[in-house]
Amino acid sequence: MKTELKQLLLKIDSSISSGTTRSEILLNTCKLLKENVYHYDWVGFYLLDEQNSNLILEVFDGKTTEHTMIPVGKGVCGQVAESKKLKIVQDVSQEGNYIACSIDVQSEIVVPVLKDGKFVAEIDIDSHSPSPFTIDDEKFLTSICQKLSVLF
Ligand code: SME
Repeated sequence: MKTELKQLLLKIDSSISSGTTRSEILLNTCKLLKENVYHYDWVGFYLLDEQNSNLILEVFDGKTTEHTMIPVGKGVCGQVAESKKLKIVQDVSQEGNYIACSIDVQSEIVVPVLKDGKFVAEIDIDSHSPSPFTIDDEKFLTSICQKLSVLF
């Protein structure tokens, strides 16, 4: 993993141990990622509701979206809530089960946060670049989600 990404992981560690609220830590993470990674244009966290039926947008950095509640199974976000597996869509125009937020978005990555093997939340990242995501994004974001799982 690139040094810049490793440094961001350290900043997220400090944020987690800062003693502030979960929501603030998640928001800090969104800002840190959007500001420092060129191909991350919208970064948000959706949390699973108590009925396990909808994802609720908790915090985000980027353009406002009307998709603040997404049913499990719907869109890329809803698919990840069901499968509990990271999903990369390198070209959103080729994805059948996709909820469009902005015409500028070309690609998306969604990574689950698992607590004791149970899906509790996910990080959703939209990009204006075509096919930008690599194994480095997978490792980096998976590591972030593992770290954040202590907050749930
Ligand atoms: N594109 C997502 C919806 C959320 S927005 O990207 C903020 C999806 O297909 O689930």
